[in-house]
Amino acid sequence: MQTDALKPRLVSLPTAEFAERAAALIVEEIRGAIAARGACRLSLSGGETPRAIYAALPSDLPWEKVWITFGDERCVPPDHADSNYKMAREALFDRVPAAHVFRIRGEVSQEQAAGEYEQLLATEAARTGEARYVHDLILLGMGEDGHTASLFPGMETLQETVRNVVPAFGPKPPPQRVTMTLPLLNAARKVWFIAKGVGKAGVLKQVLNGEPAFPSALVKPAQGEVAWLLNEELAAAVQG
Ligand code: 6PG
Repeated sequence: MQTDALKPRLVSLPTAEFAERAAALIVEEIRGAIAARGACRLSLSGGETPRAIYAALPSDLPWEKVWITFGDERCVPPDHADSNYKMAREALFDRVPAAHVFRIRGEVSQEQAAGEYEQLLATEAARTGEARYVHDLILLGMGEDGHTASLFPGMETLQETVRNVVPAFGPKPPPQRVTMTLPLLNAARKVWFIAKGVGKAGVLKQVLNGEPAFPSALVKPAQGEVAWLLNEELAAAVQG
């Protein structure tokens, strides 16, 4: 069990306005990071839930000060229907300078893609004198088995303590993936999970209780906040 102090913040949003309200909160965070540090490092999640949120992010943000990464990628080419990059490109990247989007290369081998992304993040971190790339805001989803990014229950990837990006396998198709690891996720200033649908309530209750069998419960940034942006039915179901 977690103590109260470690409990994540729950944010209940009206289902009919979920995407717009979540996007408005993300905009505030992006603006806040830019005001505080001159730039915002934002990581995007895959899955279906965030698509409408990305599409609702406005074009009048200072996108030239935002740097985008991906929490995970499926091992498919960037124009494939399963590509997380493709989803974000279609929803958002008409507004973002291409050089600011760090994509995981799903079209090469898992090992190569993970190694390249590790190197890319190390180079960016070294530029600012950091030991590890620190994100201002990481957006994540959660599957009904409690997975997040491509960190699935029971997998060896959960034991990683050194690397920031590793090859991964999972039961959710497509099985071959590349994912950020817990050390990288837990180095973030803020991690926001975005979840909709009462089907996730049972697992989410356990995750909020800190049940370590669920990878989402292991995302606990040492010096950062965790928040859950939930639609109101899901929020009511986990609080009830
Ligand atoms: C992926 C994800 C994954 C996703 C959850 C929730 O690439 O599949 O990053 O972790 O966020 O499975 O997905 P939904 O939003 O589609 O429920």
